[in-house]
Amino acid sequence: MALYSEKVMDHFTNPRNVGKLDDADGIGEVGNARCGDIMKIYIKVKDGIITDVKFNTFGCGSAIASSSMATEMIKGKPISEALTITNKAVAEALDGLPAHKMHCSVLAEEAIRAAIKDYYDKNSIAYDPADFPEPSEEEHS
Ligand code: FES
Repeated sequence: MALYSEKVMDHFTNPRNVGKLDDADGIGEVGNARCGDIMKIYIKVKDGIITDVKFNTFGCGSAIASSSMATEMIKGKPISEALTITNKAVAEALDGLPAHKMHCSVLAEEAIRAAIKDYYDKNSIAYDPADFPEPSEEEHS
């Protein structure tokens, strides 16, 4: 079996939603301290719905594929739904990632949360801190 699924290769070679939103309502930037890769996600929000999303990822192919898939998964969705998306769900939507590459999908989950938190902070919207745990080094291993 190939190391990477066709979906991973598709989203890596033809990533969706690449770029930045100059008028973003929320921006989330996260990095993996171990490999140095960085992911930045921009969201536009209207009436609680993520109406547009873009990303810039300076990282490995799995991180790029994960960002691409994650942006597709949250586009047009309510914030409440985007907050339930886990790195495992992103990896599953990509038909899996090699075990040693699962940590790359963690960046996508964290970047989405960081962008939503930024939106909440900028608009003084109250939120449950439990939805925004501090990124843990362990999750990256
Ligand atoms: Fe760093 Fe994939 S190796 S995110």
